[in-house]
Formats: sequence, C-alpha cells, structure tokens
Amino acid sequence: MQSNKPRLPHLKDLTTDNITDNVNTVNALNHDNARFRYVLERLVTHLHDFSRETRLSTKEWMVGLQFLTTAGQVGINGPSEFHLLSSILGLSLLVDAMDHPKPATATEGTLLGPFHTDDAEHLQNGALISQDTAGEPLLVVCAIKDTSGKPISGVDVDIWETDSTGHYDVQYANRSGPDGRCVMTSDAEGKFWFKGIVPVSYPIPHDGPVGQLLKSLGRHPWRPAHMHFTFEKAGWDKLVTALFMRGDQYETSDVVFGVKDSLIVNLEEITDKSVDPETGDSLSSRYGVSSGTKLLRYDFVLVSEEQSLSLRNDQSREALERLGRKVRVVDGLPVPDVDSSRE
Ligand SMILES: [Fe+2]
Repeated sequence: MQSNKPRLPHLKDLTTDNITDNVNTVNALNHDNARFRYVLERLVTHLHDFSRETRLSTKEWMVGLQFLTTAGQVGINGPSEFHLLSSILGLSLLVDAMDHPKPATATEGTLLGPFHTDDAEHLQNGALISQDTAGEPLLVVCAIKDTSGKPISGVDVDIWETDSTGHYDVQYANRSGPDGRCVMTSDAEGKFWFKGIVPVSYPIPHDGPVGQLLKSLGRHPWRPAHMHFTFEKAGWDKLVTALFMRGDQYETSDVVFGVKDSLIVNLEEITDKSVDPETGDSLSSRYGVSSGTKLLRYDFVLVSEEQSLSLRNDQSREALERLGRKVRVVDGLPVPDVDSSRE
C-alpha cells in the first residue's frame, strides 16, 4: 500500500546542482493548491537557473536586493515602483496578452498601468469628464460590439486620461476628487460618448529606483498620448485597453511597450459641416460641441468569457508543449500533470 506521507529530502550538503530540486520538493510538501505549487516551483527553478547562468556574484546580488528594498520603501506613499518595474520590463503587457487572448476580430488589450482608481463617478452619455480648461476639447464617440458585429448594451466602461500637462488626477497631492476619469454604461445600441480633452504624452514617474534603472539603461521614461478604457459585463471577458493618438513622437518607443497598431487612432476636427455618418445630423448640434473640437471615433469588439477561456486553454497547451513540459491545463492555466509530491 502506498503511503500518503511525502518523502522528505535530506537537506544537507546541498550543491549548485541539487539545491533546486530540494527547494522545490520541500516547498511542495504541505501545500494543497496545485497551481500555487506549480507557479512557485517554476519561479524557484528560473531564479536558480538565472543565478547559475549569470554566475551571479554576492556583490551583484546585494545590489539587486538593495534595489528591491528601496523600490518597496518608495512605493509605500506614491505610485508602486514594483508596478512600474513590471511595466518597464514588459511583464505587464505579457501577462495581459496571455490572460486575455483575443481572436483577430476583437479589440486588442494593453496594460492597465498604475493610474486606474476605483472612485470614478458614473456619468451619463454626453458628460464632460475633464475639468481642465487648458486642454484641447475632444469629443469621443464609441460603440461596443461582439465579434459578429452585434451591439452590446449595459457594458460598464471605465475611462481615464491625463490633463493637459500629462498628469493624472492621482498625481496631485491636493486632489479633491476624481477628474479626467469616469464610468459610463453603453446604451441599448451599444454606444457611449463623452467630452474630454486630447490626452498628451507623459513620462512615467522616474524619480525613484525604476527611473534610475531606466537612466542606467539609456532609456527614456515617456509614454505616447493615450486614453485608457476597461470594459466589463457578466459573460464577457474583461477588456483592458487604451487608444493612442496617431503621430505622437513616442509612438514607437513607449517605455512600457503598450502600443499596438490597431489601437492607434486618427483624430478628426469637427467643423460646422461635419455630420453624423449614420443619421446625417450635424455633429456639433447633435453632441453640443463647438467647431474646432477634435473627434475620436472607435468601435470596440469584446469576446465572450467562453471564447476567451477556449483560446486561453489552447494557447496554454500549445505553449507548454513547445517547452516540452508535461502539464494539465485547468481553467486556462497549467498545473503539473503528475502530482509527484502526493505520490
Ligand atoms: Fe496612461
């Protein structure tokens, strides 16, 4: 009869060759969550391989620890340095792309960034979301559809943008409430529209350890002008994305790697003669904006949760097969195929 008690490793005289297996074995002994054990096992394995491959010196490791310690301390009262670090190393974009795969017909996602808040006001269609009078007026008219072109009503849309100086409201110490952000809900035709300002490019916070790292790499801290959006409705995969204003000087060198061609938009300029292509109504009277206002139009396409899970399952299996790893895929996520610690 097989014992349920896991075999204990002999944790003595460990070497550069056998320490990884031993650490992974002991980490897996008393934890029942297979996914957690898998993630930790791969993390330890890659960390150890990283140090073996680089022959990491004690001095270098101390520099790394000091960097992480300072990043944690700076992040307590300001934007999270760890969040910024994840973004400038491309990890944030990578995780979003894997967790929210899209068919070619759907709107692409991009990273959330550190400036989303949960206190944005719920506003009605047509509302003004920015109180910045120095900004260039912008009308945003959007529709939300499924991959067959059918409108989706009742989608909660979270929107946030910079002011005309390239700052989000949360970057002001004297912030009295949300500005340059709101939540709207798509109407019966899947539409939502609002007035804001044309967003401008901005540097991510770079006065901390992440800024120093960028400097030492000879990289700039700038993001091209963009407006953030998230879309949520039960039964639909949450879409986190942004639209980028075409022609920005940082369009091809975004410090956090977030730009995608399909998310770059051309702004039009509304004149007295501009009309709504669907109704023929004058745009300025239909939306209550003056001539000279910039216009951003975009149709967002969502995927169902079912479609997204199916894609995530397929892509996980394919990726892990290419790596030659024997795993099962549960809810789109790999876990060990053979539960060796429970044998
Ligand atoms: Fe942003």
